[in-house]
Parts: sequence; structure tokens; C-alpha cells
Amino acid sequence: MQENNINHFRINKICCVGAGYVGGPTMAVIAKKCPNIIVNVVDINKNRIDDWNSEDLSKLPIYEPGLAEIIAETKNKNLFFSSEIDKCIEDADMIFISVNTPTKTEGIGAGQTIDLTWVEACARIISNKAKGYTVVVEKSTLPVKTAQTIKEILNSSRRDINTNNEKTFSVLSNPEFLAEGTAIENLVNPDRVLIGGDDNNSIQLLKDIYLNWVPENKIICTNLWSSELSKLTANAFLAQRVSSINSISAICEATGANIKEVSKAIGMDKRIGGKFLNPGPGFGGSCFKKDILNLVYLARYFRLDEVADFWEKVIILNNWQQNRIYKIIVEKLFGNVNGKKIAFLGFSFKANTNDTRESSAINIGNYLLKEGAKLSIHDPKVGFKQIEDAFLTIDQDRNNIKNSQWEKVSNIIDVFEGADAAVVLTEWSEYRNINWDKVANLMRKPAWVFDTRSIIERDKIINTGLNLWSIGLGF
Ligand code: UDX
Ligand code: ADP
Repeated sequence: MQENNINHFRINKICCVGAGYVGGPTMAVIAKKCPNIIVNVVDINKNRIDDWNSEDLSKLPIYEPGLAEIIAETKNKNLFFSSEIDKCIEDADMIFISVNTPTKTEGIGAGQTIDLTWVEACARIISNKAKGYTVVVEKSTLPVKTAQTIKEILNSSRRDINTNNEKTFSVLSNPEFLAEGTAIENLVNPDRVLIGGDDNNSIQLLKDIYLNWVPENKIICTNLWSSELSKLTANAFLAQRVSSINSISAICEATGANIKEVSKAIGMDKRIGGKFLNPGPGFGGSCFKKDILNLVYLARYFRLDEVADFWEKVIILNNWQQNRIYKIIVEKLFGNVNGKKIAFLGFSFKANTNDTRESSAINIGNYLLKEGAKLSIHDPKVGFKQIEDAFLTIDQDRNNIKNSQWEKVSNIIDVFEGADAAVVLTEWSEYRNINWDKVANLMRKPAWVFDTRSIIERDKIINTGLNLWSIGLGF
């Protein structure tokens, strides 16, 4: 419904620009919880839209537990995936911006701040195509003050070129806190919903959508900048916890302490809390590194160098953790992995997602490939092409990667055949239940298991003749 009288305005049609890991699941849950609202999700990537529209739900572009069921319930009822971007924007009362926000690779702020190319393109098309009054919601995580940029672009075209009718916009920040692998659970039962804005009417319109399933006391309304900064800060704090526990994992290995015991002992202190204390191969995912880099950039911009240095160390520690795991693997294999087969158990950045962005498996794999190792990679949800693309993002020399030899294996048993080592990189549940007696017979001795997630029970390995190194314990 397009109306200029904002007080009587109701949200009947939503358009989400960007059908990715955030846009897809978020809109699916909104469609499920608000059956009276039409939700159109658009994307410039036609293949992605085709995959969302596929009858075969195993072909959805994103793997998330519980997502396929919601898509089956809502798709083509009040949830639509479309490539008709202009039309869906024209029709929408509320538009969510949920497009790519990668780190800049060239120019001012390269390697630190976010490349706003996609957000800006999106704002421009909304500015041109939207009609009447439209609420524009930042869903993607963005640098603080991006809402100002979006406002300026939107307000550059105040009249519809065809009808000369006035158009007006309100901009809100509504960062998404979902974690991949638990996206549906997080969306259905969020810890909080954060809405930042400076116009109470539009804040109420968005709040009314969430009130369909989120208790009012969990909906926090702030100014725009607090909302944008809160998202960066939440991710920075979470990532900092992972780097903190990973730093202690190295001390455990050196001293004979056990990281699991230490995590438990500190986590029982209510002030610390027990979550996000699992050691690992370093955090991955599209958000943590990018958001911290952004925070660092912001701090440096305001000449807060000590603040910038403090947060930068979280990333430095993360890189160091990946690097030290690679070095341990090489060292245990007599300082030489040239021509040796190494099985990778898992390639996604965490369990229950097919996302490989910033996965530690990429860097650790790349280091080993450069040493001449042959990687045999298993992952229940990540395909060959994704792995190839992931390696190419950090090493553009395609021949180098091809010659280095890696393979993607579907049957988990095949990765162990003749392998000198197996490295557990993702905590997929199936890796907890491997029959190590059977596997030990397939590997070339002396063989090693490197458990970077600390999910393998030592008792299950020691009698098989395999050597086991576990994160935060060593050996
Ligand atoms: C994160 C935030 O949790 C989420 O709120 C935000 O919206 C997006 O970024 P995500 O990246 O999907 O979500 O996954 P998360 O569960 O936070 O894990 C990030 C990385 O940290 C993963 O590589 C994970 O394996 C690692 N991690 C997490 C650990 O190594 N140990 C832990 O204890 C927790
Ligand atoms: P996220 O994890 O933030 O959801 P993704 O990369 O998974 O990020 O998804 C972002 C999506 O946004 C991609 O599918 C991309 O094709 C889409 N996109 C980027 N720019 C535009 C645009 N101007 N119009 C429509 N879709 C866009």
C-alpha cells in the first residue's frame, strides 16, 4: 500500500534486496510469522534466485537446519524469490538492504573498511524506483554512519520522474545477530532485536512486524549510530572471546593444562559465562574479521590508536592460531609433508553451514598445499566448486593450486585411504562418531590425527596405533 499519510501507513509488502545467508533465512522467518505480509526477496544473481525457487529443496543455495521446512511452508504463498528487482522495489512499503559488504581491497581503507559498492548501488536503485513513502532498513552490517550515506542518496530524488508525485524515505538500522548453523533458531527466538532510527513512526512500523513473534521487552530501540556500532561491538566481543581462549589453548599445550578443564572452570563464573569458550583453528565466517577491521578503521580515523591496536590483536592472534596449527602438522610429520596425503575433515567455517567464507581450513590448507601436501577434503555440505573458489580467493594462481593437488571426497572413508594424517577442522557431528579402528587400518603409519576442535575422544584413538594431537592439550 502506498500512502503519503504516514500515520495511517501499514506494511503490506516487503522487499529484501539480497538473497544471501542473511536475507534468505531472515525473510523466510518474517514470511512465516507474518502471513498477511507479502515478502519479495530479490537478487541480481539469477542463478541464486533459481536455486531458491527450485522444487527440490535440497538445492536451496543455503544450508541451514530448519530452513527448508519454512521455505516449503511459505514459498509462493507470501514469500517470493524474484529477479524483478525494479518491480519489487516499486511495490514495497519497506525495503531491507541485505547485500554483500566485503572488505575493500583497493584504495583508501583497503583491507580495513567495508566496500560500499553494493550498498550504494542498492540505495540508488531504491531512490529511483521506490514510490510514495518507503521505510529502508539496513540489515547488512555496515560501517557506523552508513545510514547517513544511504539517506543522502535516497533523498537525492524527491519526486517520481513519471508521476511527479513526492517520495519520502525513512532509514532504519536493524542489524541481524543470527549465527549461521542456528539461523532459524536465532531468528525465531532472538536474544534481542535492535532497531536504530530517528523517526518514531518508522521505528514503530518495523517494531510491529517483530511483535508478531518477539516479546516487546526484547525489542530495543536506539539512535541510528548506537545500532550500527552495537553490531560491530557484539561481533568484536565474540571474536575476542575466541581469540582469548585460543591464546590460552597454546599455553595449555605448553604447560600440561587441559583447555577443556580451564574453559569449564572459568565459564562457571557467571560474570564470564560458559559460552564461546571452545578452542578451535581460529574463527571464520563472513563477519568477525570484517567487523573488527572496520572497528579498527573507525578507531584509527578518530585517532584512537590504542583502541585500534587492542582490537587488531584479536585478528593477529587468529591468524597466528591458524599458522601455528599448520606448523604443528608439518613438525609432527617429520618436518616434511611433500607428497603426503592429508585428510581434511570439514571445510566450512563451523558445523551446520555450507558457508566457507574466512574458514580456517582455507589458510591451513593453502599453507599445506604450498609445502607440497596432497589434500583429500571431506565436508558433508561443501562442494568442489566452493572449495576451488575459496582457495582461489587467497591464491590467484590457479595452476599452482591445481598442481598442488587436492581432491573433494564424498565418502568419508575414502579420505583416510593411504593418508599420513587426518585434520579435524569443522565440528560436524559425524566426525565425533568415526570408527577409528577401521580408519586406522586404512592410513599409512605412523599416522596422526590432529583435532583442532577437541571433539575426538582420546580413548577411541589410543588403542588403534594412531597418534593424536588435540587443541589445548597437545601430545
Ligand atoms: C557471528 C555472530 O555470532 C552473529 O551474532 C553475527 O550475526 C554474525 O557473526 P557466525 O559467524 O555465523 O555468527 O558464527 P559464530 O557461531 O559466531 O562462529 C564464528 C566463528 O567462531 C566460527 O568459525 C566458530 O567455529 C568460531 N568459534 C565460535 C570458536 O572457535 N569457538 C567458540 O567457542 C565459538
Ligand atoms: P550475506 O551473508 O550478508 O547475506 P551474501 O553474499 O550471502 O551476504 O548475499 C548477498 C547477496 O546480495 C548476493 O546474493 C548478491 O548477489 C546480492 N546483491 C548484491 N548487490 C545487489 C543488488 N544491487 N541488487 C540485488 N542483489 C544484490
